[in-house]
Amino acid sequence: MKNLQATTTLHNGVKMPWFGLGVFKVEEGPELVNAVKAAIKNGYRSIDTAAIYGNEEGVGKGIKEGLQEAGISREELFVTSKVWNADLGYESTLAAFETSLAKLDLEYLDLYLIHWPVEGKYKDAWRALETLYKEGRIKAIGVSNFQIHHLEDLMKDAEIKPMINQVEYHPRLTQKEVQAFCKENGIQLEAWSPLMQGQLLDNETLQEIASKYNKSVAQIILRWDLQNGVVTIPKSTKEHRIIENADVFDFELTGEDMKLIDGLNQNHRVGPDPDNFDF
Ligand SMILES: NC(=O)c1ccc[n+]([C@@H]2O[C@H](COP(=O)([O-])OP(=O)(O)OC[C@H]3O[C@@H](n4cnc5c(N)ncnc54)[C@H](OP(=O)(O)O)[C@@H]3O)[C@@H](O)[C@H]2O)c1
Repeated sequence: MKNLQATTTLHNGVKMPWFGLGVFKVEEGPELVNAVKAAIKNGYRSIDTAAIYGNEEGVGKGIKEGLQEAGISREELFVTSKVWNADLGYESTLAAFETSLAKLDLEYLDLYLIHWPVEGKYKDAWRALETLYKEGRIKAIGVSNFQIHHLEDLMKDAEIKPMINQVEYHPRLTQKEVQAFCKENGIQLEAWSPLMQGQLLDNETLQEIASKYNKSVAQIILRWDLQNGVVTIPKSTKEHRIIENADVFDFELTGEDMKLIDGLNQNHRVGPDPDNFDF
């Protein structure tokens, strides 16, 4: 894990960058397009969006312009989107995929995820993802917000095991059991809201560690993700923070500091509980 382009190899052999840009809550418009372009310009090779974010067109525009300006080919970028709950079902997921791809103006996706484990619906959607994967329209397929029991249930009938599980993950929610289960099953864990949506930046323990390494709290948290073997996708629309967040490849947290950060866990979520949501 030497630089921003470093990758983890998913269980199907596809390489995915350890680090990427998230664009949740960023509306269509120049701020979004510029954030995606700034990320690519500054070395990011992974962008995470979703149909429900309502911003796939701007993400696609940012990708197109960003690649062109940086002189990089599409194959060097890893693009993720997600199928929304209302579209879970075999035919409806196939259709949702086409809509996302058209909005992004891309030929294929690198990763397509089931956004939430809606009971009674995710297995049909998974069959659709398997179809698209076998057709070569998606390089890797995965899930998001799946607890261990959701993964076990899905894998009972699945032909292809998910390559990724993207879950809320930060020092207040360290997800040790989910992580261990994913590791045993060759599923790469990916962190959403790695910065706890900005709510951890004034944490004293993290501030003390940050000053010791001469790094920011955000950088300490993101480095902790990487050293835990977790793919991370912090969101920022500000170029200076896009640069700052990715500047985590020139230092290493000691085992002791890793444990101190682990110790901040309170099983506290900022997002919905995957076992109790109604959308
Ligand atoms: N699968 C899912 O269900 C799910 C759910 C939520 C999110 N996600 C994905 O995960 C990505 C990241 O999660 P998130 O957007 O919820 O939260 P996050 O990345 O934990 O935090 C983003 C917030 O932190 C601020 N920030 C970023 N870098 C900073 C820095 N260096 N210093 C100070 N503030 C900083 C950002 O503000 P500025 O933009 O103003 O810098 C923004 O308000 C999302 O964008 C999305 O792609 C997935």
